[in-house]
Amino acid sequence: MPHTGTNELTPTVFVLYGATGDLARRMVLPAFFELAQHGLLPDDWRLIGSGRGERSDEDFVEHVRGALEEFGRSPDEGPWDDFAKRLRFAGGGFTEEDPGQLLDAVSTAREELGEDAQLVHYLSLPPKAFTSYTRALGAHGLGEGSRVVYEKPFGDSPEGFRELDDLVHTVFDEEQVFRIDHFLGKEGTQDLHVLRFANGLFEHIWSREHVAQVQIDVPEDLDVADRADFYDATGATLDMLVTHLFQVAAEVAMEPPVSFSANDILAARESVLAKFRPLAPEDVVLGQFEGYRELDGVPDDSDTDTYVAARLFIDSGRWRGVPFLLRTGKRLAAKQQRVSLVLHRPKGPVDDVPANGNVISLSLAGAGAVDIDVMAKRPGPDLAMAPARVSLDLSKIPGGEPLAPYVSLIHDVLVGDRSLFTTSEGLAQTWRALQPVLDQRPSVHPYAPDSWGPVQANELAGEHGWLLGQTE
Ligand code: BG6
Repeated sequence: MPHTGTNELTPTVFVLYGATGDLARRMVLPAFFELAQHGLLPDDWRLIGSGRGERSDEDFVEHVRGALEEFGRSPDEGPWDDFAKRLRFAGGGFTEEDPGQLLDAVSTAREELGEDAQLVHYLSLPPKAFTSYTRALGAHGLGEGSRVVYEKPFGDSPEGFRELDDLVHTVFDEEQVFRIDHFLGKEGTQDLHVLRFANGLFEHIWSREHVAQVQIDVPEDLDVADRADFYDATGATLDMLVTHLFQVAAEVAMEPPVSFSANDILAARESVLAKFRPLAPEDVVLGQFEGYRELDGVPDDSDTDTYVAARLFIDSGRWRGVPFLLRTGKRLAAKQQRVSLVLHRPKGPVDDVPANGNVISLSLAGAGAVDIDVMAKRPGPDLAMAPARVSLDLSKIPGGEPLAPYVSLIHDVLVGDRSLFTTSEGLAQTWRALQPVLDQRPSVHPYAPDSWGPVQANELAGEHGWLLGQTE
C-alpha cells in the first residue's frame, strides 16, 4: 500500500515554483501544512518558495499563513511555528539565463540539512511555463538526483505532449518524474483497486461476463468565471476527459497487478491504456452552456467545449464490447463524481428486473463511498420486488484518516511511490486514443445551465440511460 510511516524519510528541500500563484495558494501550500499536521513530512525539511518578485522570508511566511487561513486548515490548529520556521523565499525569478536567488537558497538549505538531502522541484505553474522551467533546471544542474512534480495538463496536444516529454527526458530520467493527475490521488479512486482485488464480491464480477456498462460521470455545477482564460484555451475534453476520466477508466479496467507494490500497480494501470480503442468522433458529444460566451475573458464567438460525453471501448479480453461512458461538464444540474458498473440482469426465474436494478457505484468525492443498488423483496405478504441501496461511507472505516488528493500525492512523491502518477508511455496512449476527435472535432451543442447537457448524449448510453440524470 502506498503510505508508510515517516521515520525513514530523508531530509528534504522542496522548491515550490509559482509559490505565490493561485494553485500554490489554493492547493499546494495547504496540502503541505496538512502533511505536517498528519506528521507525514520528514523530520527535517525546508520549503523554498520561488517567484519573480522580491520578498523576504518573513513576507513569504505571512503569505503562506494567509493561504492557510483562506483555503486550508487554520494555522492555529497545527504545528504552525515549527512549520513557519522552515519556509524560505528565493526571488528574482528562475530562467535559463538567470537563476535569481534560487541556487544560493538551495545550497544554504542543503548546508543546513546535510548534503544527502533529497531535492524535490514542484512546478506549480501554468502548463505553458513547463518548458522554460525545465530548461532552466537543466541549465543550472538542478536535475541530477532530484525529483520533479508537474501539474496537469502535461502537454496540450499530442505534439505538445511529445515535445515537452522529450525535453523533460533530457533533464530527468522517467523515475524522477511525478506527473500529477489528482483524480488518481482521491481516496475513492484508490479504493477501486483495494475493494476489487481484496473482495470476491467485486473481483469475480469485474468483466464483460457480468458488467453491461461502466459509467464514469463527473458533472459539475460551477462555471469557470474565476479562470476563464485558462479554460477557454483548454475546454472540457483536454481539462477532464483525456486526463482525469481516462485515468479513472484505466483504474477500473486494469488487469490484476502482479503484486500490490507501487511499480506493479503502475504497470497494470498504464498497460491497459494501450488497449483503449481510439475514440470514434460519432461516439463523442460536445456541449457549451448557454451564457458561457458572456463570461469575462471568453470571446463572443468561443467554440470551447464546457461539456463532453464519450463512449469508449477498451479492447482487452476482459472488457471487449463493454461501453465505458465518460461524461463531465460545467454548469450542470449536479456536482458528483461517480464510477458505476451496471451489471447484466441475471438469467433466471425473475424476468422483470429493471435494466439498472443492480449497480455497483463508487463516489470519488471527498473520502469516497460505495453504494450497491440491488433488487430486494419488499417486506410484506407478497413476493414483490423493490429497489434498495447498500451504502458504505469510506470515511467511517475505523481508524481511517482520509487524506485530500494533493496531500496523498505529495506524500507519495516524498516516499518515491509512483503508483498514482502518470507515465510518459501511458500519456502517449491517452493522446493516441483522443487523436480522431482532435482530427475531426464534433460540433458543439448548446445546453441550458442546470440541465444534464445536450440531449444528443442520451443515445450514447443506450437502454441504461445516464444513471445520474439526462436531459429529456
Ligand atoms: C481540475 C480541473 O483538474 O479538476 C477542473 O481543471 C475541475 O476543471 C477539477 O473542476 C475537479 O477536481 P476536484 O478536486 O474538485 O474533484
